[in-house]
Amino acid sequence: MKLFLCLPFLAAVQAAIVPAIDPKAHFHPSVPNAAKPQGKNVTINGVLTYVSLPKTSFDNTTALVLLLDGFGLPSIDNLILADQWAAAGFQTFVPDYLNGDPIAADGDLATWLLDHGEAQTTPPLLAVIHALKERGIKRIAATGYCFGGLYTTRLVQNNTVTVATMSDPSLLNVPTDFDLMKEISHIPIEINNAELDPGFSPAVAAETDKVMANGQYTPGYARRQFNGVAHGFAVRANASDPVQVAAKQGAFDTSLAWLKAHLE
Ligand SMILES: *[C@@H]1O[C@H](CO)[C@@H](O)[C@H](O)[C@H]1NC(C)=O
Ligand SMILES: *[C@@H]1O[C@H](CO)[C@@H](O)[C@H](O)[C@H]1NC(C)=O
Ligand SMILES: *[C@@H]1O[C@H](CO)[C@@H](O)[C@H](O)[C@H]1NC(C)=O
Ligand SMILES: *[C@@H]1O[C@H](CO)[C@@H](O)[C@H](O)[C@H]1NC(C)=O
Repeated sequence: MKLFLCLPFLAAVQAAIVPAIDPKAHFHPSVPNAAKPQGKNVTINGVLTYVSLPKTSFDNTTALVLLLDGFGLPSIDNLILADQWAAAGFQTFVPDYLNGDPIAADGDLATWLLDHGEAQTTPPLLAVIHALKERGIKRIAATGYCFGGLYTTRLVQNNTVTVATMSDPSLLNVPTDFDLMKEISHIPIEINNAELDPGFSPAVAAETDKVMANGQYTPGYARRQFNGVAHGFAVRANASDPVQVAAKQGAFDTSLAWLKAHLE
């Protein structure tokens, strides 16, 4: 009995998979976002991709790839977020690495995850990234949200992109994935986390800092915590709640500054 109680405790202390967060625990605005998406759906290398372009001239040798949360392209908030990146000057590509099967707001997470592991998710993501490189795009900035955190982490570990940022990442293994990053990557990464995220919690963030902070990760590492907000804060905010609105904008601004600084 004693042993049974002990083992999970030890596992949690050593290394742990940051859990994906139940869709019902994400914030869902009750009033649908009134904004209209500015971009369009295209097919790139066989993969449905939402593309949003800046309205003014832009550097076409640089692209931003947005790694979706589990709600995918049908979530207007994801498209509006991509448009926000385009308005900041990036040609923005959002591959549907969920293969047309986003999770519903009342969906069963455990069942959904069975069909959304790395084996299913990585091929469409890399198909789009390879196509962008073939087009002559030299520098790719990655920004991942929630479910997209694991794949942002993989792109960094694999040195596939130039620079990355992620907000309330899930499914990665802490600290193992950051130990690996330190060992094999030369890509700078920034993390935005929410104080009330039960997955990438302040405690998990502190474990990450132990590996990455204070110059230990020489390519570059930064982390910013947003207090008073929950998982999903960087994608959705209650427009009537100034704390949520400021945190969402703060995560965007912090990510943008990081990407710009490392693309110069
Ligand atoms: C793009 O495709 C997705 C998935 O079919 C759909 O939900 C979304 O509304 C489409 N967006 C646009 C701007 O056409
Ligand atoms: C960038 O724009 C130039 C000039 O229009 C064009 O020749 C080139 O093919 C474009 N490159 C990419 C990667 O789109
Ligand atoms: C990263 O590289 C590993 C090891 O080769 C591979 O298994 C994984 O699919 C890659 N993931 C991505 C997103 O590139
Ligand atoms: C949004 O925030 C306002 C102000 O705090 C609150 O009254 C409202 O219930 C919130 N809406 C949702 C869906 O949480």
